[in-house]
Amino acid sequence: MSADYKVHGDVAVITLNNPPVNGLGLATRVAIADGLSRADADAAVKAIVITGAGKAFSGGADIKEFGSPKSLQEPNLLSVISAIENASKPVVAAVHSVAMGGGLELALGCHYRIAAPGASIALPEVKLGLIPGAGGTQRLPRVLGVEVALNMIVSGEPQKSELLASLPGQKLFDKMSASAASLAEDALVFARAMADVRPLPLVRNLPCKHPLGDAYFQFARNMVAGMSKNFPAPLKCVEAVEAATRQKFDQGVVTERDIFINLMWTPECKALRHLFMAERATSKIPDVPADTPQRSIQSLAVIGAGTMGGGISMNFLNAGIPVKLLEMKQEALDRGIATIRKNYESQVKRGKLKQDTYEQRMALLSSTLNYDDLKDADMVIEAVFEEMGVKEAVFKKLDEVMKPGAILASNTSTLDVDKIAGFTKRPQDVIGTHFFSPANVMRLLEVVRGGKTGKDVLATVMALGKKIKKTTVVSGVCDGFIGNRMIEQYSRQAGFLLDEGCTPAQVDKAVEKFGFAMGPFRMGDLAGNDIGWAIRKRRATERANMKYSKTADRLCELGRFGQKTGAGWYDYQAGKRDAIPSTLVVKMIEDHRMSLGITPRKISDDEIVQRLVFSLVNEAARILEDGIASKASDIDMVYITGYGFPMFRGGPMNYADQFGLFNVVQAMHRFAKNPMDDAEFWKPAPLLSRLVAEGKTFN
Ligand code: NAI
Repeated sequence: MSADYKVHGDVAVITLNNPPVNGLGLATRVAIADGLSRADADAAVKAIVITGAGKAFSGGADIKEFGSPKSLQEPNLLSVISAIENASKPVVAAVHSVAMGGGLELALGCHYRIAAPGASIALPEVKLGLIPGAGGTQRLPRVLGVEVALNMIVSGEPQKSELLASLPGQKLFDKMSASAASLAEDALVFARAMADVRPLPLVRNLPCKHPLGDAYFQFARNMVAGMSKNFPAPLKCVEAVEAATRQKFDQGVVTERDIFINLMWTPECKALRHLFMAERATSKIPDVPADTPQRSIQSLAVIGAGTMGGGISMNFLNAGIPVKLLEMKQEALDRGIATIRKNYESQVKRGKLKQDTYEQRMALLSSTLNYDDLKDADMVIEAVFEEMGVKEAVFKKLDEVMKPGAILASNTSTLDVDKIAGFTKRPQDVIGTHFFSPANVMRLLEVVRGGKTGKDVLATVMALGKKIKKTTVVSGVCDGFIGNRMIEQYSRQAGFLLDEGCTPAQVDKAVEKFGFAMGPFRMGDLAGNDIGWAIRKRRATERANMKYSKTADRLCELGRFGQKTGAGWYDYQAGKRDAIPSTLVVKMIEDHRMSLGITPRKISDDEIVQRLVFSLVNEAARILEDGIASKASDIDMVYITGYGFPMFRGGPMNYADQFGLFNVVQAMHRFAKNPMDDAEFWKPAPLLSRLVAEGKTFN
């Protein structure tokens, strides 16, 4: 049973018990319905309390049942709520910790609600591309007013119980408990006090209106449409809440249900649900079980206080972990620390950080020029120049000074982590932690598992990633790891498109229309075109046979490194980030074409998008086959959190699945026939061909 039933004198208490968050799976729903019947049949029982065991009242739908027939099997949530409404004895929801989604809808179906302070209250369905589906859009406006309820439903953001209870005229909570500890007792007392009150109050019977009527909903629609482009669910939230004000309650519930079911089948909803599961799956590593022992990380050292070292340090300071920063020269240290200060101060100025929290964080930061001072740190992350010789010197030194058992991590973005581990006598302690720039902002952390990395080291770093609130994805060792190995193919395609007839602005516009945060050329200007240039030079011999457009090199030879030099693929005005198409660059590309004897052709947006996105997909299939990534959903998470891939498309692999892998392969065959492209690259990866032959998908 996923709920306990106990009678305390004349009050029956049904306690949801389905860890971790009392999800309303089938067994839990059955148990609630059973409890209601038992209480109804027991003459000694005068009132019923529903509450949750452990860390939640209820977090809503059980994710294990997501999208499965079980989630709809009777008694479904609507039937359970209806059983509560029709109970002959008062039912009191005793809400604490978390009441979200279906959990909140269940509470709204009860006759009364008592809450502990500090509980997070939300209808977060919109974050999965849905609207609430068990009366939430009809009942919440009746207890909180249309505006507050609509804001909560459209944003999906949680609000604290005590804040909602303080709203004038609210009917969400009939009573607040003094504390979570006294809730159980207070609920019994309250239930007894209400035992004989009739008629039993029902939220469905409350009025629902906005004083401005149509005008308000028109305003709400405009606002929401502006903020939710590419996502249908937020506007549908407005429609459902509007129905609550126009239709009889039962009709409103039918409207809500229809909208819910229609949204369920949209690609956007499928993408968001896929990503929700994908995020959870990142921490599942096939051969590293959840109970793998971990090392204790209480303090950290960071080598190099440059762009990455500073941002990396901030992550740990934010999580309350002391950081010691090491540099070669005092000036570099001072500069690095000043940048960290500046970042925090700008957060304080924008009201995002309290002054005393800022000071607490800075107090956790210390610095040194001397490796001996690092010997007690539990873990060290190296973020020095991207040169094997420099990494070698640093890791040999770390091997000398760090205490046994310390984790030695490198933030290298392209170098061989196994080779770096080989500079030490403890390769089992070495791992890659590839942060993305700016490291204090970007959500992605690629954890690079070396051939000899200890399982406990991997488990520790994955847990640490969670602690600093990163999406942490494991990659094996290869040039570029998951994300940058794929982006190399994407960049190559972007270059070919210029050679064949596109302008940078045309490519960027097509890709941004598809939904990317930024096209490849604006991205290059932001990151610095010199970075790719340096990598290409380093790889020149090993990639001697690989075809590249030379346009990017020509651009760098002109010193156009991007925003930082005021000019890149685009022109930039001082102090501004707007990309202005550059006649000089367009002319440079035309001259380049002429020198190769190429007649430019008109290229459609569809071709641009497909060549760029399917190049990611083909390389990703090889990455899966090579075992560099353990699952396709990890690759989707990398591209969503690290590369600005549009969320509503669910990542490149999910997009390919939805597009149809057969169609993807057909497109690859077409691209292979283009003499300007790389026919060898467009041979579908064996895994991709196999999936098509078997009628399967990546995810
Ligand atoms: P950076 O040039 O901004 O900073 C490197 C810092 O390391 C400098 O302050 C330098 O003084 C210091 N340093 C150099 N040798 C040292 C040594 N032997 N001991 C102590 N300090 C030393 O470089 P950035 O961009 O921070 O890159 C650092 C690492 O992070 C590189 O491996 C890079 O590939 C990687 N990375 C960079 C990303 C980026 O977007 N900048 C993204 C992801 C990884």
